[in-house]
Amino acid sequence: MDKERILLAVKDLTVDLMTSKGIVYAVNGVSFAIRSGEIHGIVGESGCGKSVTVKAVMRLFERKKSRIAGSVKMGGKELLNIPESEMRRLRGAKISIIFQEPATFLSPLEKIGDQIGEILKNHLPDTASARREKVLSLLEQVKLLPAEKRIGEYPFELSGGQQQRVMIAQAVACGPELLIADEPTTALDVTIQAQILELLRDLRDKTGMAVLLITHNFGVVAEICDRVSVMYAGKIVETADVKTLLSSPAHPYTRHLLDCVPRGRARENKLRTIGGSPPRFRERPAGCPFASRCFLAGETCGVFPEPDEIDPGHTVSCRHARREISRDRGAL
Ligand SMILES: Nc1ncnc2c1ncn2[C@@H]1O[C@H](COP(=O)(O)OP(=O)(O)O)[C@@H](O)[C@H]1O
Ligand SMILES: [Mg+2]
Repeated sequence: MDKERILLAVKDLTVDLMTSKGIVYAVNGVSFAIRSGEIHGIVGESGCGKSVTVKAVMRLFERKKSRIAGSVKMGGKELLNIPESEMRRLRGAKISIIFQEPATFLSPLEKIGDQIGEILKNHLPDTASARREKVLSLLEQVKLLPAEKRIGEYPFELSGGQQQRVMIAQAVACGPELLIADEPTTALDVTIQAQILELLRDLRDKTGMAVLLITHNFGVVAEICDRVSVMYAGKIVETADVKTLLSSPAHPYTRHLLDCVPRGRARENKLRTIGGSPPRFRERPAGCPFASRCFLAGETCGVFPEPDEIDPGHTVSCRHARREISRDRGAL
């Protein structure tokens, strides 16, 4: 597997949603790229547009109720333009998605084995007995054991964590190149959360699929991600490999989230609390959406900056980041 190959490239994605109360400018020019086999996180506060971004990538919004622009390329193919029939073939086969509440997506009346088998039936020409073998092997892969017993169980017989394993079995059934996991562990308690994250990493290691993991939790990012993008009010403000982002965050918002500004500035930092909450927009914002809460904000923040690659693979959309970082480095 070529780990440097770009599998999914999202560029300047904007998503406007039409509601009875007007237009919601949910995603405002988001760009990121996922490499084959990597676990890429998108982290940000609730309401910042994470789910809308991934639903737009999967084309899950009704055309009438949404306006989507920009580009979503998978293996060089533009997904925003292909016919719905082709997109349907890709969903579940090449890209899959799992969500926070598995119970919402499972039928209470069907055995879990049949619900996993249904995905295989939609995409592959197997015989019924070959399909049953595959379902058993999937149950083993997601560690729902003993598989022979589990295959005949109903969702109500399973815990939340086990139901999420069923969703994961469905999602990986056809060997996707990319699994999108939108807050897959948010509804689970902490020990179960760790087990599900371990399962996702294990599946990535075995199959080589890439994972796009959406979370509001930096603990989850630290636990499992290779790279991470930080999202704020409909924009990606910073992207780096996890170690760099956690040890040397460059965007004022990331620093605020991590609350780990280098020691040289600790005293000064005590004075800086950031008030307010993320803005909601009545029109598409031109400038940096964090400016109203940012202690560094100035006139130049009226235009959102292109990502600046401050170190190889570390990009930040803030005109003040370089100056702040060199000041930190000087202070160490
Ligand atoms: N189907 C929808 N219709 C209208 N507005 C929506 C819809 N889904 C999300 N939004 C709004 O879009 C913004 C981003 O939401 P979302 O992507 O769900 O945030 P999160 O980062 O928590 O996943 C929020 O202001 C939310 O209220
Ligand atoms: Mg969400």
